Amino acid sequence: MMKEFKRFTVTSALPYTNGPVHIGHIAGAYLPADIYVRYLRSNGKDVAFICGSDEHGVPITIKAQTEQVSPQEVVDKYHKIIGDSFKDLGISFDIFSRTTNKIHHETASAFFKTLYDSNVFEERETEQYYDEQAGKYLADRYIVGTCPKCANDKAYGDQCEKCGSTLDPTDLINPVSAITGTKPILRKTKNWYLPLDKWQEKLEHYIESHPEWKSNVLGQCRSWLKDGLQGRAMTRDMEWGVKVPVVGAEGKVLYVWFDAPIGYISATKELSLQNEKFKDWEKYWKDEETKLVHFIGKDNIVFHCIIFPAMLMAHGDYILADAVPANEFLNLEGDKISTSRNWAIWANEYVVNFPDKQDVLRYVLTSIAPETKDSEFTWKDFQARNNNELASILGNFVNRVMVLTHKFFDGKVPDSTGCSDLEETITQQKNTISTSIESFRFREAQAELMNIARVGNKLLTEKEPWKTFKENPKETGTVLYDCLQIIANFAILCEPFMPFTSKKLIKQLNLESISWSWVDAGRQDLVPANHVLNASEILFERIEDKIIDYEIEKLHASKNIALNNVPPPKEEISYESFEKMDIRTGVILEAKKVEKADKLLELKVDLGFEIRTVVSGIAAYFKPEELLNKKVSVLVNLAPRKIRGIESKGMILLAENKDGRLIFVNNEDESSLGSIIK
Ligand code: 2FM
Ligand code: ZN
Repeated sequence: MMKEFKRFTVTSALPYTNGPVHIGHIAGAYLPADIYVRYLRSNGKDVAFICGSDEHGVPITIKAQTEQVSPQEVVDKYHKIIGDSFKDLGISFDIFSRTTNKIHHETASAFFKTLYDSNVFEERETEQYYDEQAGKYLADRYIVGTCPKCANDKAYGDQCEKCGSTLDPTDLINPVSAITGTKPILRKTKNWYLPLDKWQEKLEHYIESHPEWKSNVLGQCRSWLKDGLQGRAMTRDMEWGVKVPVVGAEGKVLYVWFDAPIGYISATKELSLQNEKFKDWEKYWKDEETKLVHFIGKDNIVFHCIIFPAMLMAHGDYILADAVPANEFLNLEGDKISTSRNWAIWANEYVVNFPDKQDVLRYVLTSIAPETKDSEFTWKDFQARNNNELASILGNFVNRVMVLTHKFFDGKVPDSTGCSDLEETITQQKNTISTSIESFRFREAQAELMNIARVGNKLLTEKEPWKTFKENPKETGTVLYDCLQIIANFAILCEPFMPFTSKKLIKQLNLESISWSWVDAGRQDLVPANHVLNASEILFERIEDKIIDYEIEKLHASKNIALNNVPPPKEEISYESFEKMDIRTGVILEAKKVEKADKLLELKVDLGFEIRTVVSGIAAYFKPEELLNKKVSVLVNLAPRKIRGIESKGMILLAENKDGRLIFVNNEDESSLGSIIK
């Protein structure tokens, strides 16, 4: 049984807004949280489900630099993309806030000030790496080098992604600036440190008071504590972030891992202003009767179990997390998910490619959730789970019951004359699901949920109601009645896992006006006799091989795009759009320079039916004489344009290779594959 807490504050890690979220993120910190929260809501609990985007920190400014836009533009773009993905997948946050919001800056700033005023921080002057060319201190990911622990030569100043070690920029061997690629110098600067060592004992006590935590979480915490905690800088020499609110801290911002978890608190405050139900935000953070739960991935454990609790202890007003059910990592098709290698399935692309299959992804990701160790997503397994489990076990059961009820009883729920042990069976299954969810074992919970559909299938197979109708319609009616109760119970119990399917089931049962909750599950009278059902609809279409093969090919293709450094394909166009272009073969008869224009050549191109004049910006790549007699493709219906007084009619098509040079496709080697024709 659930320990009685008065309310729940459930948080999911605030995603960095430097790119979309992928299935690894969803499986790690968002879907399990959503299942948990939906379950709590169904049980009538008071719960605030909090998330938002983590919009400060070096990953954002680096992205801005590579995309040549401002950090604000980066975070605006991805906040929208990420927020939409969550909505599309049914992740039901009460708020999805942002750390660039004013309320967050004020909250984080005030939090820092409280600690500062109570002399919590140690002011230290240390030598930090400085890029002389860029005129900047190099915090965290602005510095790359070789990891002292595993020799990975692409380790960041704050972390090595290969071995998972948390690093300090000065730990790196052969450090290089990520801004200019130059070797940085060491330069003195002042920062404020949180002396974690002072909370060592309290933190040990805190962690050990939770022997029920997952072993992966306890293991990491104990190893940190065993090594002995050290002071950690809570400020950075950077411009993008929450300004450090003390005199003498100009040009410094709060360390992103100081401000981000406070984002949970500021988002709750913001929620209180939007929604009457949460108007008293403080009780979600300051009342001992509130259970605070952080859903995160394993790379966030130390921040949520050591650093944030130390900050909260230092502040004194707040409760600490009661559970931190961190997940391990999800791999993809035999390899680690990687943004830089584009080895990922992006949530925003999935919802476009598989509209109406949100629950299939939710189901598969829960089935393979990396709860105790890293796990693996493959497209074949996705297909198999859809076809063999969702379509064959669940979809087929529901469909048979609906079709038979329509066939034999005109879609009216038949009367039951028998008494079965259905209530007991389902109640037991419901209790197992509850216990599993409360212990954060979502895989197990969902497996038990599917057993309910199996109970239904077994009933059909044993009783064969389609055979008994002629001689014993009452018997047929009783079996179908029971099966309909199973469907209704399934609709309640599947809601946390597959909310879209739950809705569809309730619609088929024509019971949208009734709102059930978890307590109702187990009842054998959810769908009353004589109630008229809606038409039956297929719940899960089978997914054909060709769809899966296409996805696998696409995954490999996008990885090759990333590896070969060629631009990704542009947005898809229709055949009709393509057909509008009239592209013909031609041969270049004449070529000469255009006067006073370094880049332009004037060409005469023979199209067989007409000789065209085309002005082309290719003088930097070819001498006029090199072009004579070259065959080219020509876009002939491009609107004519006057260039330097010469009317250009059409465009010759050449490929742009990796160095930005224009080349004739046929004459070049394979290294030009994937070049853009322009
Ligand atoms: O790992 C990440 O994506 C971080 N942005 C998580 C932050 S969680 C919290 F503390 F805000
Ligand atoms: Zn390493």
